[in-house]
Amino acid sequence: METKRKIAVLPGDGIGPEVTREAVKVLAAVGDFEFEEHLVGGAAIDAGLRALPPETLAAAKAADAVLLGAVGGPKWDALPTKERPERGALLPLRAELSVFCNLRPALVRAALAAASPLKSEIVSRGVDVLVVRELTGGLYFGGHAVADDWTRATDTMAYSAREVERVARIAFTAARSRRGKVTSVDKANVLATSQLWRKTVERVRNECFADVELEHMYVDNAAMQLVRDPSRFDVILTENMFGDILSDEASQIAGSIGMLPSASLREDGFGLYEPIHGSAPDIAGLGVANPYAAILSGAMMLRHSFGMEAGAQAIERAVEEALATGFLTRDLGGNCSTQTAGDAVALRARP
Ligand code: NAD
Ligand code: IPM
Ligand code: MN
Repeated sequence: METKRKIAVLPGDGIGPEVTREAVKVLAAVGDFEFEEHLVGGAAIDAGLRALPPETLAAAKAADAVLLGAVGGPKWDALPTKERPERGALLPLRAELSVFCNLRPALVRAALAAASPLKSEIVSRGVDVLVVRELTGGLYFGGHAVADDWTRATDTMAYSAREVERVARIAFTAARSRRGKVTSVDKANVLATSQLWRKTVERVRNECFADVELEHMYVDNAAMQLVRDPSRFDVILTENMFGDILSDEASQIAGSIGMLPSASLREDGFGLYEPIHGSAPDIAGLGVANPYAAILSGAMMLRHSFGMEAGAQAIERAVEEALATGFLTRDLGGNCSTQTAGDAVALRARP
C-alpha cells in the first residue's frame, strides 16, 4: 500500500490559522493526506518556545511538503528583531529548507475583473504574470547590524552567480510553458548585485534558453509598467526584496492580496507553500479573511511537490466556480465568511 503524503501544517499567527484551516479542508477534499500541525511564529513564542521551535523545523524537514499560514503581528514587534516571528521563524525556515525559488502567480480571474483597481480596458487585455522571486539570498540574508546607540545601521546585499543562475533557470523553464518571455528586474544602474544579476541571467539565457525572449528592466520602471499595462509581462524574474514588493503590487491588480498563493521550491521539488499575504492583524479573529490564496497555495503543492496536476486543477477550477457563484469575501467586495468560502471550494473540488 502506498504511504500517505505527509503535510506539515504551520498555521502561525493572526489570520494564518483561519485561512490555513480552509486550505487543509480543500486538500482533504481532493486527496488522502496526513496532516500534522506545528507551532510557528508568535504562536510558538506564546507557548513558551522560540519562534521556530526545533521540533517544528524537524517536522517540516521530515514532511513531504509544508503549508504555512502567516507569522508576526504587533504583539511580538517589541521583541529583539532576531527573536521576532519574521526574522526568528519565517526567514530561517525558508533558509533551512533551502527553498530558494518563490513562485507567485498573479492572474485576474474572470469573476474578479471588477475587483481590480485598474480600468476595465486594461484588465481586459489579460493579466497573467508569474513573479519568480529569489527567496534565500540578497538583502534579507546578507547580515544586519545596528550600532548600540542607534545612530547607524547596515544591511548587506549579497548574491553569488550560482544563486542567480539556479533561480534564473527556473524562470526560463517556466516561461517556456507560458508565453516565452522573461523580464528580469533589477537596479543595475546603481547596484553591484544587480550588475551580477543581469550578467548572469543574460549568460544563462544565451547558453541554455535562446528560445526564450529576455528583457531587462529597472525595478522602478517595472513598478510603473505593472499598473500601466500588466499584460506586457509574462514571467518577472527578480531578487528577494524587489520580488516581495512587486508581488504585493501585482496581487492588488489581481483583485486582492488575499488571492495570491505562492510556492517556495528547492531544486528537488520539495516545497513550502503559503499565501503571499501576512497575518492581517486588523481583521484577525473576525472570520472575514480571504482564504483563496491559502487554498490556491494547496493547489500549487499538488502541482509542484506531488505531481498531482489533476488535483491542482480541480482546486483552481473550484475556486473559479466559487468566485463566479458569488462567494466573495469582504476584500473582494462581498460579505462571505472565510469558512463559507472554504466550504464552497471544498464542495466543488471533490472528485
Ligand atoms: P498583511 O498582508 O498582513 O496585511 C496588509 C493588508 O491586507 C491588511 O489591511 C490586511 O487586512 C489585508 N489582507 C491581508 N491578507 C488578507 C486576506 N487573506 N484577506 C483579506 N484581507 C487581507 O501585511 P502587513 O499588515 O504589512 O503585516 C502584518 C503582519 O504580517 C506583520 O507582522 C508582517 O511582518 C507579517 N507578514 C507575514 C508574512 C508571512 O508570514 N509570510 C507576510 C507578510 C507580512
Ligand atoms: C512575504 C513577507 C515576508 C518577506 C516577511 C514577513 C519577512 O512579506 O512572505 O512576502 O518579506 O518575505
Ligand atoms: Mn511580502
